[in-house]
Amino acid sequence: MKQSLKEFPKDFMWGGAIAANQAEGAYLEDGKGLDISSGFANGIKHEHDKVIDENKFYPNHEAIDFYHRYKEDLALMEEMNFNVFRTSINWSRIFPNGDEAEPNEAGLKFYDDLFDEMIKRGMKPLITLSHYETPLHLVEKYGSWRNRKLITFFLNYCETVFERYKDKVKYWLTFNEINNMRRMPGGAGGIFFEEGENKQQVVYQASHNMFVANSLAIKKFRTIIPDGKIGCMLSLSNVYPHTCKPEDVFETMELRRRSLMFGDVMIRGEYPSYTARIWEEEGVEVNMQPGDEEIIKCYTSDFLALSYYRTSTHEYGQPFYGDTGGDQGTPNPYIGTTPWGWQIDPLGLRYTLNELYDRYQLPLFVVENGLGQIDEIDENGEINDFYRIEYVRDHVKAIKEALQDGVEIMGYTYWGPIDIISAGTAEMKKRYGFIYVDRDNEGNGTMERRKKASFDWYANLIKNNGNNI
Ligand code: BG6
Repeated sequence: MKQSLKEFPKDFMWGGAIAANQAEGAYLEDGKGLDISSGFANGIKHEHDKVIDENKFYPNHEAIDFYHRYKEDLALMEEMNFNVFRTSINWSRIFPNGDEAEPNEAGLKFYDDLFDEMIKRGMKPLITLSHYETPLHLVEKYGSWRNRKLITFFLNYCETVFERYKDKVKYWLTFNEINNMRRMPGGAGGIFFEEGENKQQVVYQASHNMFVANSLAIKKFRTIIPDGKIGCMLSLSNVYPHTCKPEDVFETMELRRRSLMFGDVMIRGEYPSYTARIWEEEGVEVNMQPGDEEIIKCYTSDFLALSYYRTSTHEYGQPFYGDTGGDQGTPNPYIGTTPWGWQIDPLGLRYTLNELYDRYQLPLFVVENGLGQIDEIDENGEINDFYRIEYVRDHVKAIKEALQDGVEIMGYTYWGPIDIISAGTAEMKKRYGFIYVDRDNEGNGTMERRKKASFDWYANLIKNNGNNI
């Protein structure tokens, strides 16, 4: 029998996570094309402009200028003792339109330099292949993932970056929060509906195409980077039944299953048996091609990466609603909340890690967890974000408990170690960072970086391998 771990394992990975489109800016520089995120002026839950409106302000077009300042920023991450750093490759830097035969060398070179810098500073790159960054041209010309041609384009992109970075990057994730196809298909898969369409039909067909792409990418990965690990990534903030009324309990399970289905396919290698009934009730008929099911069965994920921010509750009959934080229902009276209504629940993280390990028996990686808050600079120029320290401490404690429960956990990358543009609302005001960036919602500010109180605290936590809390 496996012994219960009392401490964080020696090889535990500690660090932070961002996404290219929320940090890099330089949205058309060095040959980059437009990607889906370029058209969201107010975040991925809101309207999307297929054509960029010159009179509108799009916060992520400049973001925090990580594209030009990554050396300075990674030096700060090194000061916090990070041994892993998660970001994404923006697909549209490599293939500006998505369907070219040849990649854009300037884009490839940028990530070469970025990964070199991470490695030089002691961080393993953990790279997401698609984090709300599908090239916009693929949406306009092909209807994005509803079209199977996307599989070929995605594989061409994967093969290019696997070959190019095989000696530098050993940890990969395919689609960020793929189960957000259900909540925000525009951001997650470039799916925008046409009048009168059965939305569920489109979402499940597009998701199926992504599953096949995921497995075929893993197939390539196994040959090109045989010593690497590739995971799937899901948004798994949790949802409790609002009461013990059996209908609340049952429907909450059904809601959770709508997310877990994505993990089931990519980890167990097949659609769970409850899928048939859901599709029947929602009038969905997914077109699968011969061989799809075998491919999905054969090439599955090495680990499950997840984001966890909060919990919510669900009441029977309530419409299913979600955002970047996960499913969202009725507030829970027992726990506190952020100004954005995200309810803080560290024990929920321990619960979730146990739930997932029970289900999959596969290593887990907490690749997103963090607190979006309003930070103020005081008269001494300090930012005393003690609420953030408390949030991280309590969630790291929950991870430690889960390790003791026997759950295998590879690492923890805090979301937004430096303030970046919010994916859900495009605000700068919703700050997650241990590092403050002088920029506001309207784009004013010097972009100067400044350490918050949580900076030294997190550096110390990592130095002690999490065992000082
Ligand atoms: C996750 C996304 O959904 O949540 C990130 O993977 C996002 O891209 C994060 O930034 C936090 O959400 P938000 O809306 O506060 O930025």
